[in-house]
Amino acid sequence: KRAQESSDYEQMERAAKFFAHQLRRHENSAAVIDYLKGRGLSGEIVKQFQIGYAPDAWDGLLSALAKDQRSKDQLVDLKLINRNEQGRYYDFFRDRVMFPIRDRRGRVVGFGGRILDGDGPKYLNSPETRIFHKGRELYGFYEARQANRELEQVVIVEGYMDVVALAQAGISYAVASLGTATTTDQLQMLFRATRRVVCCYDGDRAGRDAAWRALENALPLLNDGVELSFLFLPDGEDPDTLVRKIGADEFRKRLDKAQSFTDYFFAHLTDTIDVNSDSGKSLLLKQAKPLIERVGSEFYRDTLMERLARLLRREASQLAAQIKAPATQKA
Ligand code: GTP
Ligand code: MN
Ligand code: MN
Ligand code: MN
Ligand code: MN
Repeated sequence: KRAQESSDYEQMERAAKFFAHQLRRHENSAAVIDYLKGRGLSGEIVKQFQIGYAPDAWDGLLSALAKDQRSKDQLVDLKLINRNEQGRYYDFFRDRVMFPIRDRRGRVVGFGGRILDGDGPKYLNSPETRIFHKGRELYGFYEARQANRELEQVVIVEGYMDVVALAQAGISYAVASLGTATTTDQLQMLFRATRRVVCCYDGDRAGRDAAWRALENALPLLNDGVELSFLFLPDGEDPDTLVRKIGADEFRKRLDKAQSFTDYFFAHLTDTIDVNSDSGKSLLLKQAKPLIERVGSEFYRDTLMERLARLLRREASQLAAQIKAPATQKA
C-alpha cells in the first residue's frame, strides 16, 4: 500500500508538471497566459502555485503519462483520465486552467480546473480518490506555510482564485475549502497551525450560508486562546474582486476588524427574532442552547451564556443550570 501511495504522489506530481509545462509550451497557451494576466496574476505567482493548463485534447495527459496498462489503470484511479464504455481512455481535464491541490506536506493530491470560456461547469474538481479526501484538504495551506515562518492568522475563502489573488496582493495566508462547507477537520488543521482564523466568504447568499455552517462546525474547536472571526464582504464581491478594488492595506484593515464569533453568533440568531417579546426570548434560548453546549471551552461557553442572559434579561446563574458541557469534553 505504501509503495502504491508513493507512486500515486509521484504520478500526481508528474501531472502537475505536465500542466505547468503546457502553460509554457502549448500552442494555445498565449491565450491562457493572457487570461491569467487579465486576472492580475504575475508569472511569479503562477509559478509559486504551479498553475498550469490542461490542453484542449482527449489525449494530452494520456499520451504524456500513460506509458503502459498499469499506469493507465493508476491514472484512472487518480481520476486524471477516464475510461469510456468502449474501453477507450481520455483526459479528465481538458482546456482548463489547472490549480494543483497540495496536502499539508506539499504532495499534490488533486486538481481544480477552471474553464476559460464556453459551456460547461466553471470549475471541475478532482473527485475523491484513495489519496484525495476533499473535506480534509485546504487549497493553499501548504503554500501559506511555505510563505510564512509563523502563521499569525489564516483567512478561509471559497475559491482557488481568491487564494491566489490575495497572495498576489501580498496576503499570503489564505486557504480555500474546496467548494464544500468548511469542515471541522479543516478548521482543526488550521487551529493546529494558527490561533486566529478569519472566515471570508463571497458576498452572496451562498457565502453567508457558508459562514454560518463554518461557525457551527467550529464550535467544538473553540478552546481557550483560539480566535475565530468573520469578514462579510459587500454584495457581489469576493476576496479576489475586493482586494483588487481596495488594495491589500485596506483589506488587511478589514480583516483586523472582522466580526468576532460571539458577535456574529448573536447577530445571526437574533436576525429574525424579536428578543423583546417572550416568544422571541424563548425561541432564542431554544436555538442558542444546543449550540452553546457544543462549544469546546468553558470560558467560551460562559461568555456566550452571559451574553444570552443579557439578551433574555435573566441572571446567567439561572441559565447555567440548563446548559450542559459537551459529552466528549476532556477534563
Ligand atoms: P472565479 O470566477 O474564477 O473568480 O471563481 P470563484 O472562485 O469566484 O467562483 P465561485 O465563487 O463561483 O465559486 C467558489 C468555489 O466553488 C470555486 O473556487 C470552486 O472551488 C467551487 N465551484 C465554483 N463553481 C463550480 C462548479 O461549477 N463546479 C464545482 N464542482 N465547483 C465549483
Ligand atoms: Mn474520502
Ligand atoms: Mn460565490
Ligand atoms: Mn471570483
Ligand atoms: Mn467567488
